[in-house]
Amino acid sequence: MRLIAGLIALPLLAASDGSVFADHCAGCHGSDARGTGKAPGLAANPRLAGQSATALRAVIQRGFPASGMPAFDLPSAEMDAVARYVRDLNAGMKPAAALGSRVTWHDPQPGDWLTYNGNVNGNRYSELKQIDTNSVGGLHLKWLFPIPYFGLEVTPLEADGVMYVTGPNQVYAIDAATGAQIWKYARPQTHGLVGDASLGTNRGVAIRDDRVFFVTDNAHLIALERASGNLAWETAMAEEPQHYGGTLAPLVVKDKVIVGVSGADEGIRGFVACYKAATGELVWRHWTVPRRGEPGSETWKGSEPSMGGGSTWLTGSYDAATDTLYWPTGNPFPDSEDADRGGDNLYTDSILAMNAADGTLKWHYQFTPHDLRDRDATEPPVLIDADYLGRPRKLLLHADRNGFFYVLDRVTGELLLAKPFLRRVDWAAGIGADGRPQVKDPGGCPDDAANWSSTAYSPATRLYYFLALEECVGERMGYPDQTGQRYLRAVNIETGAVTWEIAQPGPAKAKTWSGVLATAGGLVFYGKPNGGFDTVDARSGETLWHFPTNTRMKASPMTFTVSGKQYVAVAAGPNILCFGL
Ligand code: HEC
Repeated sequence: MRLIAGLIALPLLAASDGSVFADHCAGCHGSDARGTGKAPGLAANPRLAGQSATALRAVIQRGFPASGMPAFDLPSAEMDAVARYVRDLNAGMKPAAALGSRVTWHDPQPGDWLTYNGNVNGNRYSELKQIDTNSVGGLHLKWLFPIPYFGLEVTPLEADGVMYVTGPNQVYAIDAATGAQIWKYARPQTHGLVGDASLGTNRGVAIRDDRVFFVTDNAHLIALERASGNLAWETAMAEEPQHYGGTLAPLVVKDKVIVGVSGADEGIRGFVACYKAATGELVWRHWTVPRRGEPGSETWKGSEPSMGGGSTWLTGSYDAATDTLYWPTGNPFPDSEDADRGGDNLYTDSILAMNAADGTLKWHYQFTPHDLRDRDATEPPVLIDADYLGRPRKLLLHADRNGFFYVLDRVTGELLLAKPFLRRVDWAAGIGADGRPQVKDPGGCPDDAANWSSTAYSPATRLYYFLALEECVGERMGYPDQTGQRYLRAVNIETGAVTWEIAQPGPAKAKTWSGVLATAGGLVFYGKPNGGFDTVDARSGETLWHFPTNTRMKASPMTFTVSGKQYVAVAAGPNILCFGL
């Protein structure tokens, strides 16, 4: 009986409600609701099957503005009608299994990738070695997960078989073995932002227990339920309205979440902030530009630098043994105009060593005092313990945008080595024994010798790997014979000498920085500016494997195991690519 009633009722409903669909939805979802290049099918859609008209109405009202589905605000009767229409398109369909209903999580496994760099020490080095110099030839694409955004910068995290990736104001939990979506959290991009945050840049999440942490474009820190993606809490990171943005992956330290902000090119007073993971309550905030009278304020001659810059948009590193955070800071504001900011402009373009418990400063080192060339020091601070020039030391490695490779004693802040890693560095003759640059021409090149993308030190080869840009040779600098080229370089950390390098094809395009991953399998994975994803022998630099993504590579690779199998994943253009043997 019910079946017959349904058959009779359906054409009537379709006749009346189909008109709203035809007017407002068919252009994207297709007149037959089976999908077009612009939007997925709504008919025979297991994700929609079993959903009530009320639930569908809410989805339609909210839309997915970040991925191209507008929010709808139609007259109430039309909203109800189109919601019923979509419901009836799936009458009789079996709903998709409730993947998002998990509530328990296994303890982290050795093969998990639990934090932005895989390790809180900032060294993108993995102990995994199933994929090694012998087996890497068999590496192939296992799955792909698209996110409608042109240039992803996210590093996926993986824990307990689930991968977490982000786009602009979007977080996805996906099955790490198949790439199937488990849940999605999205909100519209914020209007009126400036800088990278307005472009939708985001570098990933942090996870702890049953929570996932994420910063929104407008610098809110949010916590999502790990099982469902539902919002648990939200807090605005900034106290006052300046050009604050959020782009970084937060860092979890014990029961706290540490974050920084972007926006110093447009004018902010930077800070690092620490929140309780359980509640979002602020624990401490460390400002990177001092107020009048505070230590460091004597390095700002002119008006009070209330928007002096020093953004903190790259995830810092953490040393549990001493409970110390190492956070890099960005340029002073205004970038190249210094009439009102004489002096060193602390603590811009610096590394800050802070007590994780209360954010107080242990020591700092400034790479570029009085910067005129937007030389953010937001390149990774990599913490390693190694024998160094004959004795065991706790080191901090850092290849800076200003063209020098630095090795610091991370306990004392003492400078152990500073060596140019480019063929030509014009702005300084060297770094003196007092740790200060011997400046020749403050406006000299380079200004983008290295950037934020991941770097790695391999204890097996004792080499430090990163991408460098020989931009001193660019036309703008008066060396028209060359165009500026990227190199993958392997540097000896005791001498600063380049052991081997691979010239990247073609002139480097802006904003195509990709990162590196080194593994115990004797490999270095990295993204090429022309869209290649390559693997080289960590010892010799010989290329062993290549995958042409043919898209813009802006992200850094990671690796993980699920069910005993090692995978490597990287964001390329609008896709997350996952490779396995
Ligand atoms: C401008 C194009 C566009 C229009 C117009 C549009 N949509 Fe969408 N819609 C999309 C896109 C793109 C998605 C996929 C969003 C995503 O997955 O992030 C989507 C997703 C959906 C979903 C969720 C589908 C799923 O598989 O989870 C529903 C339901 C939906 N739209 C209903 C409607 C209805 C009803 C209308 C008309 C009132 C409409 N849409 C109009 C682009 C559009």
